[in-house]
Amino acid sequence: MGRTVEVKLGARSYPVHIACGLLDRVGELLVEIAPCRRAVIITDDNVRALYAARLASSLAQAQIDSLVISVPPGESSKSLETLAHLYDEFARLHVRRDELVLALGGGVIGDLAGFAAATWLRGVRFVQVPTTVLSQVDSSVGGKVGINHPSGKNLIGSFYQPLLVVIDPDTLRTLPSAEVWSGLAEVIKYGFIADRSLYERVATDIRALAAEPGSSLWEEILARCCEIKATIVQSDERDLGLRHILNFGHTLGHALEAATGYNRLRHGEAVARGMVAALWLSHWLRAFPEEELEASLQVLEQFPRPELDDLVAREIVPHVAHDKKGTSAGQKWVLLDRIGSATVIQDPPAELVVQAAEKMLR
Ligand SMILES: NC(=O)c1ccc[n+]([C@@H]2O[C@H](COP(=O)([O-])OP(=O)(O)OC[C@H]3O[C@@H](n4cnc5c(N)ncnc54)[C@H](O)[C@@H]3O)[C@@H](O)[C@H]2O)c1
Ligand SMILES: [Zn+2]
Repeated sequence: MGRTVEVKLGARSYPVHIACGLLDRVGELLVEIAPCRRAVIITDDNVRALYAARLASSLAQAQIDSLVISVPPGESSKSLETLAHLYDEFARLHVRRDELVLALGGGVIGDLAGFAAATWLRGVRFVQVPTTVLSQVDSSVGGKVGINHPSGKNLIGSFYQPLLVVIDPDTLRTLPSAEVWSGLAEVIKYGFIADRSLYERVATDIRALAAEPGSSLWEEILARCCEIKATIVQSDERDLGLRHILNFGHTLGHALEAATGYNRLRHGEAVARGMVAALWLSHWLRAFPEEELEASLQVLEQFPRPELDDLVAREIVPHVAHDKKGTSAGQKWVLLDRIGSATVIQDPPAELVVQAAEKMLR
């Protein structure tokens, strides 16, 4: 069947196609949207072994030559060193502006390849083929690209929209279970902030979704998440207002990641805990109803998480102040009035934040 979500951004508009088996049809989709003779596939060593040959053969069927550049898997590849390596390869291969850069992989590859494409020759055409839950529902849509600086995550970057996003839910079948759960945290986040029925569907089936990535239920859910992200991005492409609600659960989630040196929890695991804190704050400050709080907490308790017993709430909270999303005026927090209805508040009382962080650690 398949679904298509349009991201409507005037001259920078693009379709997001979602369907099982689409990996074998990327070539034909490109011929319609971005005809070219040659494409550079950027991927990581895990994804290369699984999917690069299939992508290349789909391009070959459409008379598009391809080259593969693979980098080591993991967050450490979102670095200036790896970026410099990509530029060296682009120079060696004489990559031109009428050619294509294709990101095949998770959010690390999308962010890195997208930033390389945005900056090489002031912009080479760019296509996303995301292969993790997180990248299929979040990072591949919306045009944020970038790398890390030794002093912080995602500090170097740009807004650069792709020409096309191709999502094949079948690729999730090879994803390690912990990565599936991590992505499910972002999925349920969309339900919390914008769509009560999405929340209910995911909450009811969360174990089945985690156990069977790529099933037909997934196609529908991925499409709904992309639709929500597209709507938010359309009204705030450059993250000056509404886009902030995507940060639900991320304020203390990021602080938890920072306090643990970014190596104890996956991003989604930290966000799941951050949402626990945000739900309590919503209850205390926005009269978020008790029965919704209890039901939501029960869902979030099903997410896997490492031991956090040695952590102290008061030591985590100061990391909030260093969050990149903060301004000199303070921190914005995303809270809920009801499931499906988010609101942004400025600097909740410090003591309540500590209490929420305690709930998050338990
Ligand atoms: N640009 C944005 O708007 C945005 C939004 C959210 C997150 N991000 C970024 O995304 C990154 C995290 O992305 P991620 O969670 O996708 O991590 P990732 O790209 O590191 O992928 C996770 C792991 O899964 C492996 N993998 C990927 N696809 C696979 C598949 N189909 N089968 C088997 N293994 C597979 C990868 O090799 C890697 O080891 C972070 O750097 C974060 O900052 C960006
Ligand atoms: Zn996130």
